[in-house]
Amino acid sequence: MKFFIDTANLSHIKEAHDLGILDGVTTNPSLMAKEGIKGEENILKHYADICALVDGDVSAEVLSTDFESMVAEGKILAAIHKNIVVKVPMIKDGIKAIKWFTDHGIRTNCTLVFSAGQAILAAKAGAAYVSPFIGRIDDSSWDGIALIEQISHIFSIQGFDTEILAASIRNPLHIVRSAEAGAHICTCPLDSIMGLLKHPLTDIGLAKFLEDAKKM
Ligand code: G3P
Repeated sequence: MKFFIDTANLSHIKEAHDLGILDGVTTNPSLMAKEGIKGEENILKHYADICALVDGDVSAEVLSTDFESMVAEGKILAAIHKNIVVKVPMIKDGIKAIKWFTDHGIRTNCTLVFSAGQAILAAKAGAAYVSPFIGRIDDSSWDGIALIEQISHIFSIQGFDTEILAASIRNPLHIVRSAEAGAHICTCPLDSIMGLLKHPLTDIGLAKFLEDAKKM
């Protein structure tokens, strides 16, 4: 399973990259706004800065919702760097845009996916990635991991190449369960990635080894 970081924060990206396990980055308008990135020039520069940090796919989201504008925006985003993947919302014009991008050699990540039907449509249109939002599904008392399992089963028996990118990860257990459920990628905030390191028995065991090492 590949690890992406879900942030527009350059320090968090650097920290995950320094661990040596980072395969890519996803962003969204909320994450860009959180970093105070405003205006087209700064937005494009920020994506370029992320691409310079990480040698892996970087999802950059279109801000428009009609076909023509999404295509125009996506072309500009894709021109920033070869690793840019255009992130497109799961709406009717979004599916049309994903098909257009697929036909023109531009890879896409279909975002805001909350059902298997939506995932099938995105895969049919040729999306490179489909992003089920498992945390938000759990927030509404549905089962996000069950959706990953369902999409994984469908893609496997139907032979779709689209990769399942588990998004809206809220904790380390989401990462482990997504891996079990067949996600190809998890995109996670830095604290969820770092949370995978933690186990109290590791800390207790290491403290004992270091103490005993003094007697060696
Ligand atoms: O990038 C999309 C997704 O990961 C958002 O996560 O925590 O806002 O539901 P969250």
